[in-house]
Amino acid sequence: MKLTIIGTGYVGLVTGTCFAEVGHHVICVDNDAAKVKLLQSGGIPIYEPGLEELVKKNVAAGRLSFTNSTAEGVKKSDVIFIAVPTPPQPDGSVDLSFIERVARDIAGAMTEYKIVVDKSTVPVKTGEKVSETIKRYCKAQVDFDVVSNPEFLREGFAVGDLMKPDRVVIGVRSQRPVAAMKEVYTPFNAPIIITDINSAELIKHAANSFLALKISYINAISILCEAAGANVEQVAHGIGLDERIGRRFLNAGIGFGGSCFPKDLSAFIKISEQVGYEFKLLKEVQRINSEQMERFVKKITDTLWVLKDKKIGVLGLAFKQNTDDVRMSPAIDLCQRLQKEGASLRVHDPKAMDKAKSVLSNVTYVDDMNDVAEDCDAIVIATEWDEFKKLDLDRAKKLLSHPIMFDGRNLFDRAEMEKRGWVYKSVGR
Ligand code: UDX
Repeated sequence: MKLTIIGTGYVGLVTGTCFAEVGHHVICVDNDAAKVKLLQSGGIPIYEPGLEELVKKNVAAGRLSFTNSTAEGVKKSDVIFIAVPTPPQPDGSVDLSFIERVARDIAGAMTEYKIVVDKSTVPVKTGEKVSETIKRYCKAQVDFDVVSNPEFLREGFAVGDLMKPDRVVIGVRSQRPVAAMKEVYTPFNAPIIITDINSAELIKHAANSFLALKISYINAISILCEAAGANVEQVAHGIGLDERIGRRFLNAGIGFGGSCFPKDLSAFIKISEQVGYEFKLLKEVQRINSEQMERFVKKITDTLWVLKDKKIGVLGLAFKQNTDDVRMSPAIDLCQRLQKEGASLRVHDPKAMDKAKSVLSNVTYVDDMNDVAEDCDAIVIATEWDEFKKLDLDRAKKLLSHPIMFDGRNLFDRAEMEKRGWVYKSVGR
């Protein structure tokens, strides 16, 4: 099929590339001229495992191209996907101005029937607004359909999530766009769910809020475990084997972050409020998440006492492993809290150091994780990178003034660490 994706952020770029990979012809549009130039010359603006090879392969095969022109994308395609940012506003509600702008641009370029698909995460009823906008601004007054098709990809696993989705949700107002949408997704061999537009929009916020709830739930259990002398990992394993619960997203730690969960939770609370329901459960999810960070910082100050003039080595800056993304990163939040207490920091992240430099200053960026402990009073693990498990613990012990580790992601085995002579504090065990 001939497809256009407007917006080449995480969602747009990975979606467009995977659509090309299964054989569709894809035009990716972005209004950032520098980004388009970079993509046209074979560069990738984000770190996402497996993406660069796929982009190169599909550009070479002539199935994937990049342009600044929305009009070109609209003219040359049957289905146009909107994948632009929907950032939060100060009151937690969603800024839909990019969506509105793109809807007008698409409307202005339409001269025949098109399917306009919203992939960005948007509040329920946005589809109706997009539809009204296109109708108002389409001079040619041609037929069109608006479809909601939320994206569930996780950063760091985006290519895999796209190529093998758990499900594809397609929200429609009429049957007319269904066959084309099925054709887009048939190569992915995933269950396709056809719903109304409002339900599809709600599914996205409801899914992300539920996952955030799961994390806050296990973090609350971790507090209980610490108080009662139990082990949160054993509890997570024990409850997770119940298929109705599932083990995934039951890792206790310093809380969730990133560009989705915090934003989607606030938005969902706001959306609920707007339709007359106070979603107190989700407010509690947010509260537990920030309390989790405070409790971890307290663990550090309880042990090290005064942080002024202390040096701490921090492993991890990204909001989770396998990404260079530091937006709303708990690791960055933790660093800033430690700095506020007067600590000086040596920090390392396998991928996120460049991006961290714009939000975290007055720290020493260390290239090798095994050098981070030099002259430090303690090490802190802030992101769940697998490679941190390979930290040279004997070397770290020699470099530190005292072998103290605060493991905010439970990467190491407590009994083993204590046997090796570490003062080891983790979460919920
Ligand atoms: C999330 C959703 O998973 C995805 O479906 C949606 O489309 C976008 O939002 P993402 O933000 O990329 O994806 O990351 P995710 O892997 O979900 O992790 C989010 C945060 O939760 C991270 O900070 C991570 O460290 C934290 N987390 C995750 C935990 O603290 N414990 C867990 O068990 C899982």
